[in-house]
Amino acid sequence: MKVLLTGAGGQLGQALIASVPDGLELVATSRQDLDLADPEACRTAVEQHQPDWVLNAGAYTAVDKAESESALAHAVNAGAPEAFARALDQQGGRLLQISTDFVFNGTQGRPYQPMQARDPLGVYGASKAAGEAAVQSVFGTSGRGLILRTSWVIGPVGKNFALTMLRLHRERDQLGVVADQVGCPTSTLTLAQACWRTLQIAGGSELPAVMHWSDAGAASWYDVAVAVGRIGAELGLIDMPAEVQPITTADYPTPAERPAYSLLDSTSTRTALQLSGQHWQHALKDVLQQAKTP
Ligand SMILES: NC(=O)c1ccc[n+]([C@@H]2O[C@H](COP(=O)([O-])OP(=O)(O)OC[C@H]3O[C@@H](n4cnc5c(N)ncnc54)[C@H](OP(=O)(O)O)[C@@H]3O)[C@@H](O)[C@H]2O)c1
Repeated sequence: MKVLLTGAGGQLGQALIASVPDGLELVATSRQDLDLADPEACRTAVEQHQPDWVLNAGAYTAVDKAESESALAHAVNAGAPEAFARALDQQGGRLLQISTDFVFNGTQGRPYQPMQARDPLGVYGASKAAGEAAVQSVFGTSGRGLILRTSWVIGPVGKNFALTMLRLHRERDQLGVVADQVGCPTSTLTLAQACWRTLQIAGGSELPAVMHWSDAGAASWYDVAVAVGRIGAELGLIDMPAEVQPITTADYPTPAERPAYSLLDSTSTRTALQLSGQHWQHALKDVLQQAKTP
């Protein structure tokens, strides 16, 4: 199986590269090799490499900056998956499009199911939702375009909330962290496993066209910050955790509005992929254990 990976330098991309299954031929591309904002470059990459799959882990992920860079966010997050889908539709390959809990508005107060209607709040969510819609429009019900939504991605490398909190626990005595947004952190280690399993299983059996993958449980950002302090101290990564104070979204205004409750129900995906879920605190411990200390 030949896989063209995008976003090789991102946190998910690096976890995917570190866990490539035996026998799989990987063409890993980063921004230097393939500009996702250029649909012609996406088409050419498919023509040139003729992959069985494109695993589109690359994305414009700067949620707040997207509010002022809407055209670029849409080019990368919607234009690239559409270009990949069109090229693969012609050549016979398949697409695994990684997407986000931010395609939902977060107002329903219970976990989101994969087939619920999208209703994003900000530019980032809207651009990812448009990417999903393009994949579905090109591939229809053929089963050749799969969407895997995930949430609050944290990994041992790259820019993410867990590593930022680890640094702040070292630098400060007190932290204020938003406690009224609920979702679930997802480790790149478990997410990469779900991605590879998707590609392995999809050849032999039908998978749902839209899947949800988050680590198990639920948390606010405040809960995650507290857990980073506790686990970081347990692992000897910090001497003394900072005191974490819960604050509200209103106390910490950001350019982009975020969903208040964006838990993804991953039950059906776990069944389809025959993978059991790992509680987010255990997954977080694995992430912090692998994180490089400064
Ligand atoms: N991070 C989260 O909390 C989160 C939550 C839910 C879903 N997701 C989704 O999960 C997937 C993986 O996210 P991640 O956390 O691994 O993101 P990430 O660490 O920000 O990585 C994204 C990668 O995409 C690359 N990229 C951005 N614009 C590009 C362009 N124009 N051309 C080529 N490459 C470009 C970036 O390259 P540079 O490093 O050069 O910028 C980076 O390597 C994405 O689809 C994202 O939408 C993420």
